[in-house]
Amino acid sequence: MTGDVDRILIPRERIADRIRELGEEISNGLASLLKGEEENEVVLVPVLTGSVIFLADLIRQLPHKVRIHMVTVSSYPGRSTTSQGAGIVGRIPEDLRDKHTLIVDDILDSGATLRLLRAEIERQSPRSLQACVLLRKKTDAAMRTPCEYVGFDIPNEFVIGYGLDYDGLYRNLPDIGVLKPQAMRDAVPINPT
Ligand code: IMP
Ligand code: MG
Repeated sequence: MTGDVDRILIPRERIADRIRELGEEISNGLASLLKGEEENEVVLVPVLTGSVIFLADLIRQLPHKVRIHMVTVSSYPGRSTTSQGAGIVGRIPEDLRDKHTLIVDDILDSGATLRLLRAEIERQSPRSLQACVLLRKKTDAAMRTPCEYVGFDIPNEFVIGYGLDYDGLYRNLPDIGVLKPQAMRDAVPINPT
């Protein structure tokens, strides 16, 4: 599997360091939102499947009472490497009214996923709504999309590893990297989300 990686963009140690910092940034941001409130509870809305590894590391940096409401959004079906438009699969979590909510996603690209989720969650009148992504591509569309917490800004390339997939594979790579063009051609399709 590692033979399919063209080059490593962000090694695991840098990811770990940055997630510790992100945990502090989010905690500080939430502290000002929670000021004067008795409540210390936050609802995370992670986007499956790409955010699971990031989520697992990030929640352990947060000192709050954390609930998790997973949501599935499909935007890169199968072997495509450009967004095909975002769609919510199944239902989005309910009961976010009056909750401090934080969307967690692996990567911000066209912004369709975040825009869609924000609009859907806003309709439930949460007390606050913020978003956190590990990666943001340096594209006009991504930069224009509101997102409170960003781990790394990266070049506009298709990346895999640390939860991110190509055609369902490579999520278990500990580092974030760029695939060899050959590996993209050879991938066998499986059910994508
Ligand atoms: P957006 O809706 O175009 O912002 O794309 C967000 C979603 O597309 C992310 O949650 C990822 O699942 C997927 N995605 C975007 N870029 C990449 C990439 O470079 N590698 C793997 N998945 C990606
Ligand atoms: Mg995704």
